[in-house]
Amino acid sequence: MKMRGRESDREEALLQVLRGGAFYAIDELERSLNCGADDLARMVDELRSRGYDIERRPGSGYRMVETPELVLPADIRAGLHTEVVGGRIVGYGRVGSTNAAALELARRGAPEGTLVIADHQTRGRGRLGRRWESPPGAGIWMSLILRPAVPPERAPAITLVAAASVTQAIRAVGLPVLVRWPNDVIVASGRKICGILSEMEGAAESVQHIVVGIGINVNQRPDDFDPSIRGTATSLFAELGRTVPRPDLAAGVLNDFDTAYHRFCRGGLAPLLPRIRECSSLLGEHVAVWIEKQEVFGQVLDIDDWGRLVLRDDHGMIQQLPAGEVRKIELSD
Ligand code: BTN
Repeated sequence: MKMRGRESDREEALLQVLRGGAFYAIDELERSLNCGADDLARMVDELRSRGYDIERRPGSGYRMVETPELVLPADIRAGLHTEVVGGRIVGYGRVGSTNAAALELARRGAPEGTLVIADHQTRGRGRLGRRWESPPGAGIWMSLILRPAVPPERAPAITLVAAASVTQAIRAVGLPVLVRWPNDVIVASGRKICGILSEMEGAAESVQHIVVGIGINVNQRPDDFDPSIRGTATSLFAELGRTVPRPDLAAGVLNDFDTAYHRFCRGGLAPLLPRIRECSSLLGEHVAVWIEKQEVFGQVLDIDDWGRLVLRDDHGMIQQLPAGEVRKIELSD
């Protein structure tokens, strides 16, 4: 086996060996991974914390008893043709939140494009402090570390870029969807199939990193959803009546996003606006938007090149809203 320097590369190499299913002697593993006993024990602990069941038997070494039902990094990588996105993939069987894990990695200097993906999140985070249901085996729960050289006010538009990429990838497997500005992907009935949570860290004048967390409901049955969201959430399985392979769909999102993100970094949102407008469920609609503890009513005119929702409010004033919680309203409301 080839020796590689980085700890995460070593972990991948260790996984590859252990997937063989036999017992592997500890000194042999140390030699082939070019690491010491402590390093090896730490890597095994890390893999166990991600849901791998690894047995240690005195005199025999380590053996993989069971791998978690994962969206395997290797399966995603096989479908990628990206320049930056997914250059490094960190996979978990189970994790609190891929956004939290990605933020931690970003603070420790993980390169742009690093992807964190999990089969199961125990503390999935939604917008506005909400919880995001992320059961095992059912969805794509992934977070991408980005380091765009744009001013912080421009960075939130990346959520829209990502939402458009999710839209293209879901349409490509046969389901028509639209983006409900700024971060939801919805089906024709208005039910939500994907949510995006972008979390940014940095100084006032520059972005250190932004983590774009994408949650796509893929293979849940309608009854799998908590009763509190059963009326508003849906999955690809519920809409299409068939399961969709998660690695292929994840790769579809990431391939599209890689290209779109490069265009965004070069030219801002303007070159992407035609596709963002085409994906939008709100243009021309009458809406109510919750923003900073008040509700603004009006008709949506556009999304501008800062990613803001442009609307003519009920007093005839043009407003450009940077964020908010939108609901469509019927004029008779
Ligand atoms: C929302 O619509 O409220 C946003 C939901 C975002 C969920 C995803 S799942 C992957 C990533 N990790 C998290 O903890 N949250 C995001």
